[in-house]
Amino acid sequence: MIGWTIAALLAGVGVALYSYLAKILTYWTKRKVPGPKPSLLTGNFGINLMGQKSIGDICDQVYNDYHEEPVAGTFVMTQPLLHVHDPEIIKHVLIKDFKDFFGRGIYVETERDPLTAHLFNLSGKRWKELRAKIAPTFTSHKIKYMFDTMKECCTQLQDFVEAKCAANGGKYNADIREMQARVSTDVISSVAFGIQSNSLKTPESEFRRIGTKVVEPTVFNSVRLMVLFFLREIAQKFKFSITVNEIETFFTKLVAETVAYREENGIERADMLQMLMELKNKGFLKNKEGEEPEQAPEDGQVNGKLTMNEMVAQVYIFFIAGFDTTSATTSLTMYELTKNPDIQEKVYQEVQDVLKRHNGEVSYDAIAEMSYLDKVVSETLRMYPPLPFLNREVMVSREIPLTKVHVEKGTRVIIPVRALHHDAKYWPNPEKYDPERFSEENKASRPSHVYLPFGDGPRVCVAQRLGLMQVKTSVAMLLSRFRLEPSADTPEQVEFAPRSFVPLPKKELRMTLVTRQTIAA
Ligand code: HEM
Repeated sequence: MIGWTIAALLAGVGVALYSYLAKILTYWTKRKVPGPKPSLLTGNFGINLMGQKSIGDICDQVYNDYHEEPVAGTFVMTQPLLHVHDPEIIKHVLIKDFKDFFGRGIYVETERDPLTAHLFNLSGKRWKELRAKIAPTFTSHKIKYMFDTMKECCTQLQDFVEAKCAANGGKYNADIREMQARVSTDVISSVAFGIQSNSLKTPESEFRRIGTKVVEPTVFNSVRLMVLFFLREIAQKFKFSITVNEIETFFTKLVAETVAYREENGIERADMLQMLMELKNKGFLKNKEGEEPEQAPEDGQVNGKLTMNEMVAQVYIFFIAGFDTTSATTSLTMYELTKNPDIQEKVYQEVQDVLKRHNGEVSYDAIAEMSYLDKVVSETLRMYPPLPFLNREVMVSREIPLTKVHVEKGTRVIIPVRALHHDAKYWPNPEKYDPERFSEENKASRPSHVYLPFGDGPRVCVAQRLGLMQVKTSVAMLLSRFRLEPSADTPEQVEFAPRSFVPLPKKELRMTLVTRQTIAA
């Protein structure tokens, strides 16, 4: 008898749960928004947790299946997600109606998980204040200061490859993705904290080990990302800490020790940490002459100053965003140049010509003059945008612009960048690597907001100029000394790890660097 009662109770709970979930999952059908059918417990993103597809792959699939629709709806478990496909609506979300869409919808826990409270994750007033303070860190003037440090790391790369070639009859077969990840780690550690991480020469360096750990395509990291991006409510309810202890300890200790050393010894350097220290101590950055603040503290703000925890969180995002996006873009540019020798030759000629005009000196201005290189890097960012989608949160209940779809405050919005970059409607023959897509004429003939490698609007990548400069300097300096050639193990096509967020090749990305006869830089 008791057995029957328990069975009946369980069945009752099951039916109630089923009805509850089924009702929630009508959110989009009730609003007449098309989309793939969700599973009862996992919504449309279960295959990501199973490790079959990345979040970006799923967004691509939704776009491919519903690209004729201005918007489509999916669910992460029971959390509704609106995918915006129409470029005009995208423009509204990112720019024209930004004030209603400026949240990230990401999990932030200042006290329990301080590394989550960085510029990329924050929303609301805290994001606005921090963005205003941090943006002046990345002006062209400040990037010019950082350029020499960046160049020094690229010179070390040239010497490193040169030595390998010298020992191997003028050729060096390398896993370019790993090599660039190590160089980018050196660059970001130098320009962010003034620390030589030595990752290029010492692959087992602490910085490289930590960097690999943060972005490793493991089950833990993909669940972590899913919760971080879309399931904030669950994380808050169960008081999750998303950041691994070891990573939190590494960055907290690094910042505390470096700041203490600099303050005790009166050391000032032209790096990001120095600027964050100014924000911690004064609440604003000095201008070029060092007199007036570039960004005055706002009235009523806690002195407009950064706390130590806020500083650590910003250092963390600079490090992660700084090495992974740039190394992916640099190595994929080199891969495409290996497969397209005529394009490689054109870039090489341009590098030679520009450097000749600059007395063989690689400088900020010389790199900025390389217009064909700019097209080449733009094309890499089209084919392989490091962030395959942008995300926003609706800040007030309202209609989605140019539609009759009403959504509640807190609804998450996805802009499927990579899928837009591969839509044949905007990019004829989209799988062909063709830098000429970025000629002035071709750019003018495309609608706006179908090319978004750095996002757009007030939340556009705060370090866009720095990221581009780093990629271009690295490519130009390598090409000036070495020719890229395919080797037997160069893949025909790059396959990416489904559990990775930025495009991380499943296998090594190997090619051969060959010493050139003429050396210009
Ligand atoms: C090729 C290099 C890079 C690419 C393609 C890239 C791409 C992006 C994208 C797509 C976003 C989101 C924009 C949006 O939501 O509209 C973003 C935001 C951001 N990026 Fe980058 N990024 C790059 C390099 C860097 C570097 C070098 C740093 C720092 C040193 C950096 C720091 C950030 C930060 C802090 C944000 C958050 C901005 C905010 O929400 O206000 N990025 N980046």
